[in-house]
Amino acid sequence: MNIIGLDALIFGVDDIQACTDCLRDYGLHPVGVDANGGRFEALDGTAIIIRRADDATLPAAMGPAPSIRETVYGVASAADLDAIEDELARDRLVTRDEQGVLHSVDDLGFAIGFQLTVRKPFTAPNDLSNAPGHAPQRPLNQPGITLDMAAVPRTLSHVVYFVPDAAKGEAFYANRLGFKTTDTFIGAGPFMRPAGSDDHHCLFMIQTPPHMKGCEHFTFHMGSGTEVLLAGRRFEQKGWTSFWGPGRHLFGSNWFWYFNSPLGCHIEYDADMDKHDDEWEARVAPMSADNSQLFLFTSKEKWAPGGPPPKQG
Ligand SMILES: [Fe+2]
Repeated sequence: MNIIGLDALIFGVDDIQACTDCLRDYGLHPVGVDANGGRFEALDGTAIIIRRADDATLPAAMGPAPSIRETVYGVASAADLDAIEDELARDRLVTRDEQGVLHSVDDLGFAIGFQLTVRKPFTAPNDLSNAPGHAPQRPLNQPGITLDMAAVPRTLSHVVYFVPDAAKGEAFYANRLGFKTTDTFIGAGPFMRPAGSDDHHCLFMIQTPPHMKGCEHFTFHMGSGTEVLLAGRRFEQKGWTSFWGPGRHLFGSNWFWYFNSPLGCHIEYDADMDKHDDEWEARVAPMSADNSQLFLFTSKEKWAPGGPPPKQG
């Protein structure tokens, strides 16, 4: 089951215009968006899809709108789709729609889909830094940041669920879909990656009371920590409010900046996540402020030093 990662997250929302404004301001590219919703794509084609909450074609909602309605994973081949269908059909309904997308449900009640991945190659600048002790990465006379520097979401990174039983969720994704646990927060839940991805996590589960079940946040990978700060700053200037960040996580090492959104969850920018293979030994640590980030900034309005030095004597 060569699951590569998230291809799309589908939300049922009650304010299409507000969600459209949010996802466009965040930096995603609208495709086929109208009054009933549409796709908002990153550079590689992975996407957030919004529909009206009463859209009868969506899987059933787990709670009041707005809410996540389906998590769609991309796989490498038709054989992978067949293997997933065979595995899940042993004990639950699996359907295949006209586009060939498999639809089913996990052991926690989250709707899940599987499709041949939409991920496509793209070009975007690399983050080039200069560090004493190493050869410069950036050519002479090339500025590291400019006023018009692009900071665009590149690929759908991860989704975080509030779940009533994190152990049950971990067992399902590990035993039925071949996910690996990279780290665990005691009192919260596991960070997991599918076998076809080396990213630290594309799924994180946080145990909560049952009535909170749903999506806590999702995020797209940016090209660098600089891009997280730049995109977040621009998003904030458009009126979206910061929830947590910017900062840098411990587990996964990813830069982060979370914002409030009208999608019923938080929306994050991340960058520079750790990569792992099966040699990695999962860490376990209590969920705490110390373990959630190594540092946390507070964004504030611009400032510049000015005026003459203070008079002496
Ligand atoms: Fe995150």
